[in-house]
Amino acid sequence: MAIKYHENSKTFHLYNESISYIFKVLENNQLGQLYFGNKIKDRDNFDHLLEMQSRTMSVCIYENNPYFSLEHIKQEYPTYGSGDMRYPAIDISQKNGGKVLNFEFVSFKIFKGKKTLNGLPATYVENADEADSLEITLYDKLIETKLKLLYTIYNELPVITRSVNIENCGSDDIKLNRIMSLNLDLPDMDYEMLELTGAWARERHIKTRKLEQGIQSIYSMRGCSSANFNPFIALKREGCTEYKGEIIGFSLIYSGNFLAQVDVDTYDTSRVSLGINPHGFEWILKSDESFQTPEAVIVYSGKGINDMSQTFHSLYQKRLARGKYRDEVRPILVNNWEATYFDFDEEKLISFAEKSKSLGAELFVLDDGWFGNRNNSKSGLGDWHPNLEKIPSGIDGLSKKINKLGIKFGLWIEPEMVNKDSELYRNHPEWILQTPNRNLSQGRNQYVLDFSNNEVVDYIYDTLKNLLEKSEVSYIKWDMNRSMSEVYSLAHKSEDQGKIMHKYILGLYDLYERLINDFPNILFESCASGGSRFDPGMLYYAPQAWTSDNTDAIERLKIQYGSSIVYPISSMGSHVSAAPNEQMYRNTPLDTRANVAYFGTFGYELDVTNLSEDEEKIIIEQIKFMKKYRDIFQFGKFYRLSSPFSSNETSWMVVSEDKKLAIVGYYRVLQKVNQSFRRVKLLGLDPNLEYVISTYDYKVYGDELMNVGLITSDYSSGKYRGVGKIEGDYLSRLYVLKSIS
Ligand code: GLA
Repeated sequence: MAIKYHENSKTFHLYNESISYIFKVLENNQLGQLYFGNKIKDRDNFDHLLEMQSRTMSVCIYENNPYFSLEHIKQEYPTYGSGDMRYPAIDISQKNGGKVLNFEFVSFKIFKGKKTLNGLPATYVENADEADSLEITLYDKLIETKLKLLYTIYNELPVITRSVNIENCGSDDIKLNRIMSLNLDLPDMDYEMLELTGAWARERHIKTRKLEQGIQSIYSMRGCSSANFNPFIALKREGCTEYKGEIIGFSLIYSGNFLAQVDVDTYDTSRVSLGINPHGFEWILKSDESFQTPEAVIVYSGKGINDMSQTFHSLYQKRLARGKYRDEVRPILVNNWEATYFDFDEEKLISFAEKSKSLGAELFVLDDGWFGNRNNSKSGLGDWHPNLEKIPSGIDGLSKKINKLGIKFGLWIEPEMVNKDSELYRNHPEWILQTPNRNLSQGRNQYVLDFSNNEVVDYIYDTLKNLLEKSEVSYIKWDMNRSMSEVYSLAHKSEDQGKIMHKYILGLYDLYERLINDFPNILFESCASGGSRFDPGMLYYAPQAWTSDNTDAIERLKIQYGSSIVYPISSMGSHVSAAPNEQMYRNTPLDTRANVAYFGTFGYELDVTNLSEDEEKIIIEQIKFMKKYRDIFQFGKFYRLSSPFSSNETSWMVVSEDKKLAIVGYYRVLQKVNQSFRRVKLLGLDPNLEYVISTYDYKVYGDELMNVGLITSDYSSGKYRGVGKIEGDYLSRLYVLKSIS
């Protein structure tokens, strides 16, 4: 691994065993991008990669030089107004009303390891040898402003991380209108853009579209990263599949409004930009103030989508998530939400916890409805003290009683919100986001607390700290249940209102940081009406997230398959719920529900006190099974094998590091009449190891399983002999493969 600076050609080359990232200082002292992709040999000079052409109608920097036009030069961090006609990475309003910028190269620093970003989530290293970093300083003399471009390349991973820091060194204010975390100019447009889109209960479905000239983008303007578009895009070459081909993934470590955009010009070059959404963002930077953007991550693979995902999984699981649970298997939980909604009392909760314990679960989670006057979604939000009518022992008493039963206790909170019918709102109506003299819209009968105001964050922090200190709480589900509107803070001046959306996110991160530091043994799970804030920013604080309110096993195939494009299995909250399912009214077999949920953190979200004898026996076995194998489910290497978006059959698998153990999940949505024989080619096994397969009575070598495939129409052999034809819709199988050598 290296970051090299070639003095003669003023070229930077960041490379490791798998990737190269090259750019240089151009004739005008700005930075030009030369190459990103598969590793190429280092050399002193890559100037031949700088393509320039004289084109009619182009604006050129120098008199008598028709070649040097910023419109046609691939740039590292472009600005608008000096000849480049595409969208810029940065836009600044200046004192004289002008907007033209000229950030010129001044100096650079190369150092081992990686810096943390103050107040923002970011990937990290555990020792300095894991990565090298480069910090480039650019300066605009006219506005006396310093721009630092930060890069890190990981030694063992095909990953470059980037962010930008800007500092106003002059005496006049400047106003940032746009400051992207990343810009990457690519030389052609022969890509398909892959994105994760959806809505509540159908989060992170995979969509692809061919790049076309013009703008293609996804974004959030909801105040959270959103279920609608995840802060991620990938550009893949035609013919790139799960198993082969070139793909570049771009992911933003941020939980608020974002923009991910590809701008293709009519010369067929593609400009990728990723960062805070400029819409609704305006940041006045006074003298001596600086601003740090969120971090963006670029992952390259020449070996298909699975390979790109595995890089994201390793990075986000081991070098973004933090804390005790980063490397620990997750407790198997029972959550009362879908079983009781708001209708419970202490006795009922104790009986739930007792039953959960007897089934083998390790954590009982009390969801919404335990506090204030919270008997429906219309009141009580914001009042984080127990409702003593429902829970006479309070949370401290209840949590202790439940812990005494031999099962841990977890709690739901939604600290960023209030109902108008709450003590908190009555005492502090000025503490919510609201635009003066405008209608105030509600969402789920609730309003958003102004987390851009430190006083509000401090109050919530003190309240929660006090609650958690008194109680025996091992897990927190941190919810957030509405998109934001009328965003404006009464605590800030009118000229600072463009900062509120980002300051809110900084307030949120600050609250998380304080609580995870105070309570390092608590497992945090983030949630936002299911998966509306399932993003890398949250993973820095909470190593798992509630993937979706949709707990139907068949819908979960798409949601979990899509989520796995970027996010590790250990981050996906997944529960077995009742049938018919609450969201889909669909009846799926109990084993299929578990077979999907095993590929996640695993738990139950149903009335455990109302199970049939058969169901109880099955659940006891399921929990035993998960305890035995969760290490490989949550931390093994995950491969997608066949997609629910294009097939009636979904399959995926996990493989242990030593390849001696693998588990394949196979799911068939609809029964087909008189169907053909089916098999699925496995991945990631050791070709020379012989595996015993749990449902079969014969052994098979890894090479056969990867080349011929695993037979899934298994009704002619082994455990399922003769039963296949009658199983019907929503069938699933779990194959445990163990090497016997
Ligand atoms: C959100 C969550 C659910 C549940 C409810 C409680 O919708 O996603 O899991 O916690 O809130 O109100």
